[in-house]
Amino acid sequence: MNVHVRVPATTANLGPGFDLMGMAVDLYNEVFLKETDGGLHITVEGEGAETIPLDESNLVYQVAHRLFREVGYTPRGLSFHLKNDIPVTRGLGSSSAAVVGGLAAANRLCGDPLSLLELLAIAADIEGHPDNVAPALFGGVVLTTEAKGRLHTVRLDPPPELAMVAAIPEFELPTALSREVLPSLVPRQDAIFNAAHVALMTAALMRGDLEQFSAALADRLHQPYRSPLIPGMPDVIAAADRAGALGTVLSGAGPTMIAFTEGPCLRVGQEMQRAFAAHGVDSVIRVLLPDREGVAYQGKELISTQQDRKQDTQQEIVCHD
Ligand code: HSE
Repeated sequence: MNVHVRVPATTANLGPGFDLMGMAVDLYNEVFLKETDGGLHITVEGEGAETIPLDESNLVYQVAHRLFREVGYTPRGLSFHLKNDIPVTRGLGSSSAAVVGGLAAANRLCGDPLSLLELLAIAADIEGHPDNVAPALFGGVVLTTEAKGRLHTVRLDPPPELAMVAAIPEFELPTALSREVLPSLVPRQDAIFNAAHVALMTAALMRGDLEQFSAALADRLHQPYRSPLIPGMPDVIAAADRAGALGTVLSGAGPTMIAFTEGPCLRVGQEMQRAFAAHGVDSVIRVLLPDREGVAYQGKELISTQQDRKQDTQQEIVCHD
């Protein structure tokens, strides 16, 4: 059996939702998996092709192996081909995409014994926090928290007019390093500030209210501490604001900065790129849309629909100021 899975990139935190909220975006990694007569064969094309290991230490293989063990399936041999469009170690959920891709492909190979919620529990356990893996699985914006001994997820549809532009610096920032700078205790008023902003963000998304969404994009729990790791971060935010963004946040653990816009807006990205350049940082800009489907299998109609939409977006340069 040949399995083909596609997984979206994700932008975690969305400002105040540190470690609990994330949005899937239309940038994808694909996993092609088949059972063979023996051994392990892995090939990689695209992002990370020079650095991603091709042996048993490969993350996609490792999570697939864990799923097989948990469901009691013993493949004779495995062949993986990984086609990656998500930049590695940039705060766009490439490791979550590997985890979700490996789990979803392995699950399909042995007849889908686990539900998406069961895959979420394993993925969150592997990643350590659910804010990237949940939207990679379900699409849209997902808020995940553990309560009464299990994970609870709330999936929200991003407003139809919401678009983003990512300024992706050409340097890597390992998540571990970006978490090391965070304090273990924070002032009470900062905790209250973020709790209120997550509530506002959730309400804004439920109502499709872009003005409140824009107001909710503020954070005091991680961005201020991480800012020194990203040269020019305050100036990039200011440049995007001046160019008409709804708000700009650090994507996940960084270093990518994501500006939210009403409709696709390349100009906001160009201003962010200029602000990074003034601090000696080269960056690539990508206009993005929310992904609403999450992990998808070959043969589902949504694969072609999403790709068509993406092509339209990359060509769109009109801003709604
Ligand atoms: N919520 C995580 C962080 C995302 O900000 O560190 C990175 O995986």
